[in-house]
Amino acid sequence: PFHWHEEMRKNHPVRFDPQRNCWDVFLYNDVKRVLSDYESFSSQTSLEQFSIVSMDPPKHRLYRSIVSKAFTPKAVNDFAPRIHHITNELLDEVTGKGEMDMIADLAFPLPTIVIAELLGVPKEDREQFKQWSDEVVRGTDIANGETPEQLIKSQKQVTQEIFEYFTKVIENKRRNPRNDLISALLAAKVEEQSLSLTELLQFCFLLLVAGNETTTNLIGNAMVCFLNNPDIQKQLREDLTLLPGAIEEVLRYRSPIQSLIRVCVRDTELSGQTVQAGQPVIVWIGSANRDETIFEQANQYILRRSPNRHIAFGNGPHFCLGAPLARLESNIALRLVFEKLPFISPKKGIKPNPVKDMLIHGYKSIPIAF
Ligand code: HEM
Repeated sequence: PFHWHEEMRKNHPVRFDPQRNCWDVFLYNDVKRVLSDYESFSSQTSLEQFSIVSMDPPKHRLYRSIVSKAFTPKAVNDFAPRIHHITNELLDEVTGKGEMDMIADLAFPLPTIVIAELLGVPKEDREQFKQWSDEVVRGTDIANGETPEQLIKSQKQVTQEIFEYFTKVIENKRRNPRNDLISALLAAKVEEQSLSLTELLQFCFLLLVAGNETTTNLIGNAMVCFLNNPDIQKQLREDLTLLPGAIEEVLRYRSPIQSLIRVCVRDTELSGQTVQAGQPVIVWIGSANRDETIFEQANQYILRRSPNRHIAFGNGPHFCLGAPLARLESNIALRLVFEKLPFISPKKGIKPNPVKDMLIHGYKSIPIAF
């Protein structure tokens, strides 16, 4: 997508596509503007579901504040020892083997196990929980002859099962509150009202789906950057204090979420074009993060880039709630990879297998040897 973005930034930075009936926005300042100006560009793009992602302020603020306390850097930091432990266990499975799939063996299971623990899902249900969450985010299994319709049907059924499951967990925690997120949601009040069961279920579901695939892709994309540049891997191994900055640069250079959608609610000018009320707007985060008027050598991965004002976690009121958790998980995972495994390289003859999707940048498998 990156060549296409570059071309669009140069020739059509804000354009209406009559075929898709929507605007595309490619420049950093325009993308930031659309994401922060919620009075002109609404997140309420569908009426389907209750979710903070698709609410506008002031309602959005009320509901987001219920969960935001659990996701501050300080709150998630309490979880560092558990993330450490889980990562260690996953890596211990493969250290003797001399090879692994970075996605299947580490980047994929880690975020699901972590969010299950945060929500307070009982240990014995974890395997089932992981299978469900894999199912709701997976793509069509073309190799086995699956059609998109079959996928949708299967995912609807699994969503139903997840809701039934969470209903039971919620009932349990009503009777026995614990120190976990579901218990916190049960205790929360919005304008003196407790959340309804539907609202509780939607919150659980959102936390389950919003953070898993994105964090998997961040860890995977980082691996691909380090595999493509052995010199960067060498520098990081010599000085692990460079790792947090290296991960920020992965977020900029290979943004896991490439685009977001809004709907224009009042006529607004963007880089000389008038977007009309009612029209959908796609903002290209991956393009904004390579805007050469903002980032020097934008098409290069620069290990010590500073400043690095990427918008991989969005901007404005919907700025990613899970950013501190995603940063913590990826820092611990990659640090332990460097500490526990010797120098890693791509497995001979096998290339990382990219996710084929315009909206997501990531890999389905990254076979490596060490
Ligand atoms: C929102 C990216 C990890 C939970 C967002 C948004 C982006 C984003 C771009 C803005 C959506 C919008 O404006 O419409 C990412 C990336 C991640 C990541 C790149 C990993 C590298 C996580 C994790 C969690 C999480 C680990 C939670 C466990 C959320 C939630 C929202 C959100 C709940 C909605 C916030 C709101 O509407 O106020 N994320 N995310 N994310 N993210 Fe993340």
